[in-house]
Amino acid sequence: MKKVLCFVMAALLFAGLALLVYAAAPDKLVIDGIKSKQAAVEFPHKVHADKYDCKICHHTWDGNGDPAKCTSCHTLEGKDDAPKGFKAFHTKTSEASCVGCHGKTEGAGPTKCIDCHPKA
Ligand code: HEC
Ligand code: HEC
Ligand code: HEC
Ligand code: HEC
Repeated sequence: MKKVLCFVMAALLFAGLALLVYAAAPDKLVIDGIKSKQAAVEFPHKVHADKYDCKICHHTWDGNGDPAKCTSCHTLEGKDDAPKGFKAFHTKTSEASCVGCHGKTEGAGPTKCIDCHPKA
């Protein structure tokens, strides 16, 4: 009996923690960290966070606190080992990039410039 109770409490605690993590994740956000001529990009974060492991995209995150913005590393010109921002969001060879994942996944999000960059 004690064991069962312990398990139930552990499960509840876990659910609570999961909720906490989700509360920190925004529903929608605007990505404008690359300072270039491109218009800012609207990103429905929740649609993605409900579907995928956070670390597919936040690939350098250790799971503590808020993950760093992609563009803190993937700047316009790239920083240290981090490829340019353009690559981080458009490369077709990585599932972490918007266009890379949308291009590979049936029924996923937009791949045309105009859909993400309405004013481009
Ligand atoms: C799925 C969404 C998506 C699609 C499709 C997309 N982009 Fe982007 N693009 C982004 C995001 C996100 C950023 C980062 C915006 C920011 O931080 O300002 C970006 C930034 C850019 C930048 C600024 C970086 C730089 O090097 O100046 C350019 C240029 C750009 N996109 C061009 C394009 C072109 C051209 C296409 C079509 C071939 C395209 N994008 C398709 C999401 C997308
Ligand atoms: C499909 C990719 C993807 C997934 C999955 C994802 N995120 Fe994000 N998340 C992003 C992008 C892109 C941004 C915008 C980063 C930027 O502005 O540079 C972001 C932003 C955030 C921010 C705001 C950071 C800030 O400083 O503005 C938080 C918090 C966050 N994500 C948490 C999470 C958590 C927790 C999960 C998992 C439950 C998750 N994300 C899943 C791509 C993703
Ligand atoms: C702490 C710095 C840092 C942050 C934050 C970060 N990245 Fe990266 N990223 C890197 C480095 C370094 C590499 C190259 C080595 C590797 O692949 O891990 C990379 C590689 C990538 C690649 C592969 C690029 C290629 O040319 O194949 C993609 C795509 C990518 N990141 C997308 C993202 C996205 C999207 C986010 C935000 C949700 C993000 N990164 C956040 C540092 C970072
Ligand atoms: C790991 C895969 C993955 C990555 C990375 C990813 N997406 Fe998506 N995206 C999806 C899938 C799957 C859908 C379709 C979701 C659905 O309709 O349930 C989607 C849908 C969308 C939609 C349409 C949402 C709607 O409600 O119709 C937009 C806009 C979008 N993504 C933007 C982005 C941008 C911008 C990025 C990069 C910052 C990005 N996505 C990165 C998988 C991804």
